[in-house]
Amino acid sequence: MTPQPRRPRALRSSAPMRALVRETRPQARQLVLPLFVKEGIDAPRAITSLAGVAQLPLAKVRDAVSAAADAGIGGVMLFAIPTVRDAAGSAACDDNGILNLAIREAVAAAGDRIVVMADLCLDEFTSHGHCGVLDAAGRVDNDATVEVYGRMAVAQARAGAHVLGLSGMMDGQVAAVRAALEAEGFVDTALLAYAAKYASAFYGPFRDAVDSELVGDRKTYQMDPANRREGTLEAALDEAEGADIVMVKPALPYLDVLADVAAQSLVPVAAYHVSGEYAQIEAAAANGWIDRRAAHLEALTSMVRAGADIVVTYAAVDLAAWLGEDS
Ligand code: PBG
Repeated sequence: MTPQPRRPRALRSSAPMRALVRETRPQARQLVLPLFVKEGIDAPRAITSLAGVAQLPLAKVRDAVSAAADAGIGGVMLFAIPTVRDAAGSAACDDNGILNLAIREAVAAAGDRIVVMADLCLDEFTSHGHCGVLDAAGRVDNDATVEVYGRMAVAQARAGAHVLGLSGMMDGQVAAVRAALEAEGFVDTALLAYAAKYASAFYGPFRDAVDSELVGDRKTYQMDPANRREGTLEAALDEAEGADIVMVKPALPYLDVLADVAAQSLVPVAAYHVSGEYAQIEAAAANGWIDRRAAHLEALTSMVRAGADIVVTYAAVDLAAWLGEDS
């Protein structure tokens, strides 16, 4: 044999040894499960492109939130699909709009067992499918949109949401929402900013999940996938505007950005393993080309290793069960 100063394989020699020295240990409590609530249906509707995920009727929200809490995960993120969409996205600010009704149901079921987050964006509510309101030329009007986000935030806070997920990528949205909440006395509502959100091809199945009517793309407000430094700039701006949590989205194609944001942020960092990332694993697993459990656990471990404190994933409940078996 050849004498060597160090033999790294020694720490890989058995399962107990690997468990002893493992650097990254994901926990169920850091997982967040997205839930889709559709107005006007009375039974869950499977989403073909998102295996195991369904659009839920309002009446099923309590059960879904209870099940998530029982699974031991940390949170749920609510998205809603209204029956009527208009150019201004009016249902978003209506206390009796489907998302705000769903928040009330979710908060009632959650008690203090699980955190309830709500998506704060207009794309599910607008007839044109954009994340904001349009100006006369048909462009997304930044400053008019953040004013609507402020009203939407107050409606969500009034409904009892614990965390608002600002996913619209408008400039100044965090500051506008923070100011609107302060003006109404909502001091315990946390803001999760989708700080570095890229204009990604990996959102495909999500558009099915919310029956999106988008024509065109979101490239004038979501980020260019080619830009790394800009991701850290967006996160720094959102933190300065008062974001309590900053998120990078999608996750695995952007682990460089996630690591950068985690290195510079003084607030917790989240990663969103988006619909297309999830669907890739599901489709390959359904064909027998990949081990579903191992692939989801590896994806989660990689996001946490890169610096995510919180991971939003459609596999949250299964992951919680697998993590429980492993520990
Ligand atoms: C916008 C929003 C999107 C996603 C979350 N919030 C879609 C988009 O920006 O087009 C995508 C999430 C996913 O793909 O899982 N409100």
